[in-house]
Amino acid sequence: MLRHTLFKTSRALLAQQQPRSTLMAFRAMSAKAAGAPLNDHALSHADVDADPKTLDIIDKHAKYTLTTYGRPAVVFKHGKGSYLYDVGGREYLDFTAGIAVNALGHSDPQVAQILFDQANTVVHLSNLYYNLPAGELAEQLIEGTRASGAFPASKIFFSNSGTEANEGALKFARKVAKVTAKPGEEGKKFGVVSFTNAFHGRTMGALSATPNPKYQKPFWPLVPGFAHAPFNNVEAVDQYVTNETCAVIVEPIQGEGGINVATEAFLKKLRTRCDEVGALLIYDEIQCGLGRTGKLWAHQNYSAECVPDILTMAKPLANGFPMGAIMITDNVAEKIVIGDHGTTFGGNPLGCAVASNVFRRINNPEFLDNVSKSGAYFRKELESLSSSLIKEVRSKGMILGLEFNVDPAPLVGLARERGLLIITAANNTIRFVPPLNISKADIDKGVEILKSAIVAFEGKVLNVEA
Ligand SMILES: Cc1ncc(COP(=O)(O)O)c(C=O)c1O
Repeated sequence: MLRHTLFKTSRALLAQQQPRSTLMAFRAMSAKAAGAPLNDHALSHADVDADPKTLDIIDKHAKYTLTTYGRPAVVFKHGKGSYLYDVGGREYLDFTAGIAVNALGHSDPQVAQILFDQANTVVHLSNLYYNLPAGELAEQLIEGTRASGAFPASKIFFSNSGTEANEGALKFARKVAKVTAKPGEEGKKFGVVSFTNAFHGRTMGALSATPNPKYQKPFWPLVPGFAHAPFNNVEAVDQYVTNETCAVIVEPIQGEGGINVATEAFLKKLRTRCDEVGALLIYDEIQCGLGRTGKLWAHQNYSAECVPDILTMAKPLANGFPMGAIMITDNVAEKIVIGDHGTTFGGNPLGCAVASNVFRRINNPEFLDNVSKSGAYFRKELESLSSSLIKEVRSKGMILGLEFNVDPAPLVGLARERGLLIITAANNTIRFVPPLNISKADIDKGVEILKSAIVAFEGKVLNVEA
């Protein structure tokens, strides 16, 4: 309740332009709400010791930027590898990687060079014309995916973000259903089934597939035809996926939903049921795909009976340059014609040139093997943590979740004030999605900081309960 009140107050303060003294008060409040020890100068990265420029910058944000995120009073200026640096030069170990985006770390020299070279060649053309990098990237993605033994991808459509990739995938599924409708099915086969704890994005279609009332409710009514089935519940599938379903969309490993790994039986059942009713199976691999699990695609952790018809990707595709894509099989591609879908920026030469480099480096057996090894190592380190507040560790490669018995949100502030960046996920879970090339030494360092933050968190929880 206190947290909620403080958050609301801080939002209100940030939404209006506030004098510096009010923002100072906000910082104290937000620190308290985030579980940060106030005035604790002993901490290496204490909010109270932030560079004075920090508040001026936040001031500017508060005046001109719409507040849709509750942010801590830290302003980052630059990054290198697995580290970020704030305006005062304080170094933070980054276990968030821009929420599973900076797979090759911050300020990667090759990415920087390609951005520079391509920007000096051509940045944008629109999809009225062909460009070189988009064709090369499309070939790499399709041929690389086929060679990896994943699903039989045939064509690609480039977008600019994850939600936009899902939006396109849902449109393709509706189009396929429309042109293949059997007599009596016309106009009825438009249902989409997604799952509890799913996160597919914030635009209207993707949001309609994201059954979190916090995200959906302010925008009701949403797109008609969406149903939400229980995740990993094989028995419930027949009831939800019917002849009126055109698509089932699922994350093989749910990220925002709490690092929930789909079972083989569940994905197999979805594939079988989609084939029975003539629906398309869409895998949203925006967070869990592209090397994050130690395989090129997350669904390669499952048998060949669990392949999708459509796969969406985004986050790490261009290591932080906004870029997404929808990869489809022939069966889908042949039903989509000129004019069915479009985008001004999608497939621009700049993003595609970067993504070519990123994809080539991630789709490398040595790199992927190292992700698996680092993930296994990280998992063991998390399993060795001893705290009565910890419930379980869930992971697949380098997407890891640590579930607590209580809401672990304050731990984010406690870790940050010790120099470690982490994020929450649903269901009392702390999520770890660091750069895929993070070193073992940095995993060790982060886990040490985490230990100290957990001790502080335990003290806080016990005090609250006392
Ligand atoms: C699984 C999944 N799908 C879709 C999205 C939406 O992607 P974006 O924020 O790029 O629109 C996200 C973002 O967190 C995601 O994790």
